[in-house]
Amino acid sequence: MTMPIPNRPVILTGDRPTGPLHLGHYVGSLKNRVSLQTSHRQFLLVADCQALTDNAHDPDKVRHNVLEVVLDYLAVGIDPALTTICLQSSLPALAELTQLYLNLVTVARLERNPTVKAEIALRGFGRDIPAGFLCYPVAQAADITAFKAEVVPVGEDQVPMIEQTVEIVRRINRQVGRQVLPEPRALIPTVGRLPGIDGKAKMSKSQGNAIGLSASSEDIRAAVHAMYTDPGHLRVADPGQVEGNAVFTYLDAFGDRQEVAALKARYRQGGLGDMVVKRRLEEILQELIAPFRERRRHLADDPVFVLNILRRGTETAREVTDAVLDDVRRSFGVFTFV
Ligand code: TRP
Repeated sequence: MTMPIPNRPVILTGDRPTGPLHLGHYVGSLKNRVSLQTSHRQFLLVADCQALTDNAHDPDKVRHNVLEVVLDYLAVGIDPALTTICLQSSLPALAELTQLYLNLVTVARLERNPTVKAEIALRGFGRDIPAGFLCYPVAQAADITAFKAEVVPVGEDQVPMIEQTVEIVRRINRQVGRQVLPEPRALIPTVGRLPGIDGKAKMSKSQGNAIGLSASSEDIRAAVHAMYTDPGHLRVADPGQVEGNAVFTYLDAFGDRQEVAALKARYRQGGLGDMVVKRRLEEILQELIAPFRERRRHLADDPVFVLNILRRGTETAREVTDAVLDDVRRSFGVFTFV
């Protein structure tokens, strides 16, 4: 078994267990995590507490999806010998750091967080925002700093969370007078955000425009064939538009650069039909997803094995985060009386 090498830069990222992960997660972050696990000390957090901030009415959904997310991690190639997978709710240091950090952030600052703002609008909370939801960026700062993480591979929408974390870290370091916590930086994938198959800005299970990481071959075929292209490209001979054409955005994310460049040129010129391009994309996605699906099916047969990976990872993470909490408390000069 390969063991992580010490003194490597620390990575922490997480996912809310609210449903199976999809290709948007893969492009946005999972792919980076798989390649970074050999060069970094990586922790993956199943963020069940954060999932509860807007799912308190449905805790069963959150509980059920904890193992699903772990299965998705393992299916795409996260190796538990290299990456520590852990459960947020079983790491009390995260809650304690959140409690401390909440005093370092204003409500006005929380209300300005653009991602939270957009999510509040999307969920139609109006003025009835769960307080835990408004404050989740602070809890996320606790997640990141509890591991002294330096690198956070996330999608673009998470950048405001990293910014808030950096502000909290600076505030603490300034007040203490030395670098207690490192300033984390976001690692954003070079390919932009993957749109849904309907061409809408974000792939999301709730929008019904996602391709799951364990999608069946029939589902993949149906999704690609239903995919949004250029509505002006009516006849094969017509010149087609590549920009905003979901099939080409997916090819950019998953295809070979040279091949995609050639396809784009032919499509723009006219004479290349949507069906041909879709068939090529389908092939590429079938090839990508088949091994994920196989591995997942195999692992899903042994939930105890999967649960033990999460248990062991959480134990390791508990030691790490308890030590950091202790350090922060002492440095800040709080909660250390008895
Ligand atoms: N907010 C992240 C998301 O919705 C999930 C998350 C929780 C996270 N804790 C984190 C991401 C810490 C990075 C670091 O996808």
